[in-house]
Amino acid sequence: MSPSAPIGVFDSGLGGLSVLHEIRQLMPHESLCYIADSHYAPYGEKPHTLICQRSIVCVDWLIEQGAKAIVVACNTATAAAIGPLRARYTLPIIAMEPAIKPAGEITRTGRVGVLATAGTLSSKKYESLLRQHARHISVISQACPGLVEVIESGDFSSVALRELLDQYLAPLRQAQIDTLILGCTHYPLIRSLITERAGEGVAVVESGSAVARRLQQQLAERDLLNLQAKPSPLRCWSSGELQTQQSLLQSVWGAPLLLHALPTFSYS
Ligand code: DGL
Repeated sequence: MSPSAPIGVFDSGLGGLSVLHEIRQLMPHESLCYIADSHYAPYGEKPHTLICQRSIVCVDWLIEQGAKAIVVACNTATAAAIGPLRARYTLPIIAMEPAIKPAGEITRTGRVGVLATAGTLSSKKYESLLRQHARHISVISQACPGLVEVIESGDFSSVALRELLDQYLAPLRQAQIDTLILGCTHYPLIRSLITERAGEGVAVVESGSAVARRLQQQLAERDLLNLQAKPSPLRCWSSGELQTQQSLLQSVWGAPLLLHALPTFSYS
């Protein structure tokens, strides 16, 4: 495997771009391939078996593009599929999880809120994360059905978005949390809106930059960091409607990108 090979990243849609931004910032020389599996978004309320199948389709495609490492830029896909993915592939696979551990270290009051998808919060992985890192704190977990769909529509200033946020933040405000975890990669895309409504002095944390650092470390350990070569432009694939996806992805990424259709091939 050559250090100039790309890093493959996928999510159900736009959300993984929040992680991709962190990767680009930390490792500007790396070439990146991204899949927005938008036809299947949101993953959050879908059965774990389907998310597992979609994750395999995405990873197979990224490997076909020559990926040297994979980032599952999706908390829900990590919760549903990380075990099977790591059992199936030998290349490094870096995964997302809600930032319970860092939140436990920074909270002063011990009251921490988590916004995430129903799929993440109902998973065994989340249960074990809490058992491991949240014994000393009180965690209030809030599922956010509908939020990813509104973010996927690309209208970050809609009344519907503000209303949904207020609805989901109300129990957390009532519990007087001092730290809020964004446990879905879509939510950092509306971070300022969330911060402004979460309550005064509430620290908002997420895992994107930690994942980028872990990726860098894993590549360094394998001598796979691309330190010299000029990166090729971001290559993207989507399973959704291409024209809409092109403008959405481009506006969130903030630079021109070339979008292709993710070929439909069956899960094997
Ligand atoms: N962005 C994803 C996550 O981190 C998935 C959201 C969804 O499709 O429901 O959980």
